[in-house]
Amino acid sequence: MKKATPPTTNKHLIRWVEKMAELCEPERIHWVDGSQKEYDRLCEELVAAGTFTRLNPKLWPGCFAARSTPNDVARVEDRTFICSLSKDNAGPTNNWEDPYVMRRRLKQLFRGSMRGRTMYVLPFSMGPVGSPMSQIGVQLTDSPYVVVNMRIMARIGKPVFAEIDKDVKRVVPCMHSVGAPLAAGQKDVPWPCNDTKYIVHFPETREIWSYGSGYGGNALLGKKCFALRIASNIARDEGWMAEHMLILGIESPAGEKTYLAAAFPSACGKTNLAMLIPPKGFKGWKVWTVGDDIAWIKPDESGRLRAINPESGFFGVAPGTSARTNPNAMATLARNTIFTNVAVTPEGGVWWEGMTDQPPAECTDWRGERWTPEIGTATGRPAAHPNGRFTAPASQCPSIDSDWENPEGVPISAIVFGGRRATTLPLVYQAFNWSSGVYIGATMGSETTAAATGAVGKVRRDPMAMLPFCGYHMGDYFRHWLKMQRNLTSTPRIFHVNWFRKDADGHFLWPGFSENMRVLKWIADRVRGRALSLESPIGWTPRFEDMHWEGLDFERARFEALQQVDRKQWKQEVISHEELFLDLHDHLPPEMVYERELLIHRL
Ligand code: OXD
Ligand code: MN
Repeated sequence: MKKATPPTTNKHLIRWVEKMAELCEPERIHWVDGSQKEYDRLCEELVAAGTFTRLNPKLWPGCFAARSTPNDVARVEDRTFICSLSKDNAGPTNNWEDPYVMRRRLKQLFRGSMRGRTMYVLPFSMGPVGSPMSQIGVQLTDSPYVVVNMRIMARIGKPVFAEIDKDVKRVVPCMHSVGAPLAAGQKDVPWPCNDTKYIVHFPETREIWSYGSGYGGNALLGKKCFALRIASNIARDEGWMAEHMLILGIESPAGEKTYLAAAFPSACGKTNLAMLIPPKGFKGWKVWTVGDDIAWIKPDESGRLRAINPESGFFGVAPGTSARTNPNAMATLARNTIFTNVAVTPEGGVWWEGMTDQPPAECTDWRGERWTPEIGTATGRPAAHPNGRFTAPASQCPSIDSDWENPEGVPISAIVFGGRRATTLPLVYQAFNWSSGVYIGATMGSETTAAATGAVGKVRRDPMAMLPFCGYHMGDYFRHWLKMQRNLTSTPRIFHVNWFRKDADGHFLWPGFSENMRVLKWIADRVRGRALSLESPIGWTPRFEDMHWEGLDFERARFEALQQVDRKQWKQEVISHEELFLDLHDHLPPEMVYERELLIHRL
């Protein structure tokens, strides 16, 4: 094996890299410096390997398109494990395996797994390098596709080695192999991966081992594996929070900024909300983006919560993103972006369902096959995979907040929970206090679509949108939320929103998208003690006259239908809260039971 001089003096790191190289037997080791030159060279190599197609530089400067294989297109929740020492610590919502058994299995899988490939040593910082709120990891990977994506999604390379050499922060080791060793002379494929997949977390030793996948959250280990599953463990131990939340700032015409963090399950428009452009009637108002997926939230010295976005890019779902639904996202991904599993047009552009009303006359679909609208209709095949993605630098977002890289984070005044609910849940309401707010987050749910399950309207409970991402027992996670308040001098107000309520005929009652600004404004006003509301059994709800209606013709009766708290529906709702609570019962904090009782009383 060819050896390069390591750009670090950290003996533990050097020894670990040597040990892992012995295990995985790569042909060479490359220490990632994170430079533009290195990125360009790797992209060239990916083009030569057939993994990347360079898009037309006149239309899509600095952009590439990649296609994965059909067996590697999304996060694999059933192959994701939390291997805590005791099964009880992982809880009933996570897959668990005995860590000794799992380690043995992983050793076997990783033995020789990088043969014929380069092992990249990729140091990364989640959060701005050197921020007291940041965390450091080193990912060893045999995927150059992962290296270039990670350069967009995290701060990587030389400055991070320098941070590691200070030896003041614990480094999280992240092992990654696509599990496709090459025999001598064997030709590589454009998307190497393995049918066997393992996404494994060891919470006590703070380690990640990922095998068999090169896609998204399975492979870009800084994101879900580190910033949520491992970080939720670190956060619990250190008294902060790692959450599946966007962060945005609402600026009034007077220049007053109010930041909030918001948790929504997937397919509820999180990226769209984070990049919202205020509608007509909001002259002088602005919404600023800090992050679209993950928030690390910590009390500062004065007892106020502050949040950073640990990522530096957006790994967004492409289908449905358009100049109408999210113009800021379209501007962000217009250059220096890596697209995965979207369609490529003959002129070297990209396309996906929902990008334009008119599909291109012809394109190459995400499988690499010729696609026309006629073929699409005849086969029922979309041109882009529904989970096709763009990896785009956050710095390119027109609405990026001036404080998005502030090492101290931004002050959080409100926490918002939301889901996709056709009935029962009003457009917006405010929790009475922190503990009732935690109950709202703990019981939040979202309706599954017919396409996913066949059972329309089935509510899946997804507490704080963390069901697939909490790295320990969900009951203990609720306890941690409750405990957080003790260290705060000023507690963020908690809200719940639902953009998806329907009338009796099945039509959405609320226009959504940019009009959600009206709800954001009420939230900002409530936080600042300026907006009135009505007390309802579930919390504080705005009256028609408490909302800003300029620029939108919206009937009072329609608003009242949208805000209605139907006691009969709510009794059903409370019964269904029990489903998840039964699973978690032996770790469920008593406050959750009291809150449920109080809610039943008020109903
Ligand atoms: C994501 C997800 O990719 O939540 O952000 O699945
Ligand atoms: Mn997410």
